[in-house]
Amino acid sequence: RFKSPYKIAVIPGDGIGKEVVPVGVRILQACAKKYGFEVQLEHFDFASCDYYERHAKMLPDDWVEVLSRFDALFFGAVGDPKRVPDHISLWGSLLLFRRQFDQYVNLRPARSVAGVPGPLRNPGKIDFWIVRENTEGEYTELGGKIFHGTQREMVVQETVMTRVGIDRILEYAFDLAQSRPAKQLTSATKSNGISITMPYWDQRVAEMSKRYPDVKVESYHIDILCAHFVQKPSSFDVVVGSNLFGDILSDLGPAVTGSLGLAASGNINPTGKWPSLFEPVHGSAPDIMGQNIANPIGQLEAGSMMLRHLGQPQAADDIILAVNAVLGRGKPDELTRDLGGQASTTQLGDAIEREILAPA
Ligand code: NAI
Ligand code: MG
Repeated sequence: RFKSPYKIAVIPGDGIGKEVVPVGVRILQACAKKYGFEVQLEHFDFASCDYYERHAKMLPDDWVEVLSRFDALFFGAVGDPKRVPDHISLWGSLLLFRRQFDQYVNLRPARSVAGVPGPLRNPGKIDFWIVRENTEGEYTELGGKIFHGTQREMVVQETVMTRVGIDRILEYAFDLAQSRPAKQLTSATKSNGISITMPYWDQRVAEMSKRYPDVKVESYHIDILCAHFVQKPSSFDVVVGSNLFGDILSDLGPAVTGSLGLAASGNINPTGKWPSLFEPVHGSAPDIMGQNIANPIGQLEAGSMMLRHLGQPQAADDIILAVNAVLGRGKPDELTRDLGGQASTTQLGDAIEREILAPA
């Protein structure tokens, strides 16, 4: 659906975002050179606390118009709580993008990385995706509080699940499962306790599965599913969940691989009507900013996800292979400090770039 040259808005944001995004850009360009496609990059300084200090707002007034022209947004991290409160910086940028651009899929990989030890003794090979519904479900503003300050004080918050909302996230998850060798989809439910919305979710899963006869579907209640994530993480392929369940699973999944700090996340509008956003999971790390010591791998994972989304799966795989190769050989002068080495952000980036461009 997307065609080269791919139009990409580059938004570094704050803190180490400004250090890891340039490494990400270099790797995108290396992939473009190797695989013969083009990336048309435009850099933006908004969605940052610097911009906020100059303009008293996080984004220019015409941001929707400006960003809609792009195929994808390559994002670093936003936030610098000493200068601007987080609710202003995050709600005034990232969270607006998610809503305005109807990025109804949140996608995260859980993948073991060679040379990065995880918390489990014998986890096997972990390689699966978590697909989280990103717009409705348990996260709504429907509800309220009454009898303030009295004995009867009461709060209510509603869960909203629409057929359209469930079906479109399931369709994305089934398509993804269909495209993978294992073709296996796991649905997170809790229909034994949440007796209206979750049985409805299960019913939509059953309905959707009729359209995907090759995809093997299994369904687990969220509590035992969390246990399985820890006990047999290598048995999953694609896992789909509501906004809340997906939120929990998308931290737990990467955490069992030990690589949560290296993880990336995609906020995706699969229709292509609006641009999708790809970013590392970590924040702007003000404590280490400006020292060229941040680990750029999360940003590179984000680049890999973006290339897969744009229709360059080989280049996307290549980034992962290069990361595995460099981290796997474990040379201190190619690893940043958080990985036990002495390399700078740029040196680790150089090593990955060499790996990608090396003759096979
Ligand atoms: P953080 O992820 O920025 O940092 C947590 C710890 O991990 C820090 O000690 C940091 O030095 C370390 N760290 C993070 N990324 C690293 C990397 N690539 N290499 C080496 N070490 C790394 O989370 P924190 O400190 O809670 O938040 C800092 C700011 O980032 C806040 O303003 C927060 O709101 C924002 N934030 C933004 C996100 C986004 O843009 N999506 C996500 C999470 C936090
Ligand atoms: Mg979370």
